[in-house]
Amino acid sequence: MKMVVAYIRHEAFEPIRTELLELGFPSLTITEVKGSGRQKGITERYRGAELTNYLRPKIKLECVVADADVQTIVDTILKHGRTGAVGDGKVFVLAVDEAYRVRTGEAGEEILQTHPGAASAA
Ligand SMILES: Nc1ncnc2c1ncn2[C@@H]1O[C@H](COP(=O)(O)OP(=O)(O)OP(=O)(O)O)[C@@H](O)[C@H]1O
Ligand SMILES: [Mg+2]
Repeated sequence: MKMVVAYIRHEAFEPIRTELLELGFPSLTITEVKGSGRQKGITERYRGAELTNYLRPKIKLECVVADADVQTIVDTILKHGRTGAVGDGKVFVLAVDEAYRVRTGEAGEEILQTHPGAASAA
């Protein structure tokens, strides 16, 4: 199992979510975060003073999937996340040792499979 962690633009999330759902990956978590990349900051004038904002709002997307599905997830994020401008974000792939479904106590990669039949809300 792997966790795909992506820092993306807010606008990129909805198309990524939609395609992941269509591909059979409804399970994910997002957090609204602030981050900085290479370009360091954006300087603006505010009431005569120059202010540099080093942090930009981003969406952090986390998705734990079977090893065989990692490339599909990454490709979907790259496809919809890329505008070509600086700040499009980054994707990281982390190893995941174990996973448990709280409701049943089941463990292992099987718990990552889509719920049979139900179009359930989380
Ligand atoms: N090495 C990193 N570790 C953790 N978060 C990162 C890292 N690099 C980027 N991020 C996150 O991704 C966001 C977007 O990064 P960004 O796309 O600006 O990266 P970059 O390396 O500067 O590439 P680009 O040249 O396309 O701007 C950052 O605001 C931050 O939240
Ligand atoms: Mg950058």
